[in-house]
Amino acid sequence: IKKELTSKDLENKKVLISAGPTREAIDPVRFLTNHSTGKMGYALAKAAAYRGAEVKLVSGPTNLEVPLGVELINVETAAEMKDSLLAEFDQSDFTIMAAAVSDYRPQVYTKQKIKKKPGDLSLDLERTTDILSELGKRKKEFQTLVGFAAETENLIENAKKKLVKKNADFIIANDISKPNIAFGSDQNQISILSKSQVEELALSTKADLADKIFDYLLKKLINKN
Ligand code: CTP
Ligand code: CA
Repeated sequence: IKKELTSKDLENKKVLISAGPTREAIDPVRFLTNHSTGKMGYALAKAAAYRGAEVKLVSGPTNLEVPLGVELINVETAAEMKDSLLAEFDQSDFTIMAAAVSDYRPQVYTKQKIKKKPGDLSLDLERTTDILSELGKRKKEFQTLVGFAAETENLIENAKKKLVKKNADFIIANDISKPNIAFGSDQNQISILSKSQVEELALSTKADLADKIFDYLLKKLINKN
């Protein structure tokens, strides 16, 4: 039996994970969203629960099954995701922002269905709160904060900037331009960045990578203390 299949090395740890896309309503029938399916976040939640953690999963709309032993908190908008995460964050030992949070939302919600008219239509958008940055500001010594970086170019350079700017402990860099590992895939190829190192992991399933991510975080934590 492989070691990682039996050890409960996250016992007594609280793990908070965000996953999936958000939806920002334009009118009663339309919304802004993205291609996230939530698979990586759900894989992380499953792995953490299996390893004995108390896991809360704040999720945007997905078609995925809630992993056994995981508490699901359903949200729709970036604002709801922020509120749910802020309510849980202070108690969390490990927080992983795997969600693809919308960066913008419509400035106004139109209560009646927008009817088409001749000519073009433009929508005014406003920024949402950067949740990872907010968590980075509140982070205490005992907490480990992990973000993702979805990039189509300059992967490591852009991911490093996000690590610093958002005060995360680690960033998982994700090259979303590669077709075999794009959104919705069961596989991924990632690099984990810390302040001083870049660790490139081999192409693998999201389930396997979820375990490798926790292996890495626990190893780093042991070396810190
Ligand atoms: N994130 C967040 N709140 C937002 C936007 C992003 O918490 N409003 C988090 C994501 O969950 C992810 C990290 O920030 O963990 C990086 O997200 P990404 O979209 O790659 O980067 P952005 O900082 O939004 O920058 P850009 O989209 O312009 O590359
Ligand atoms: Ca973004």
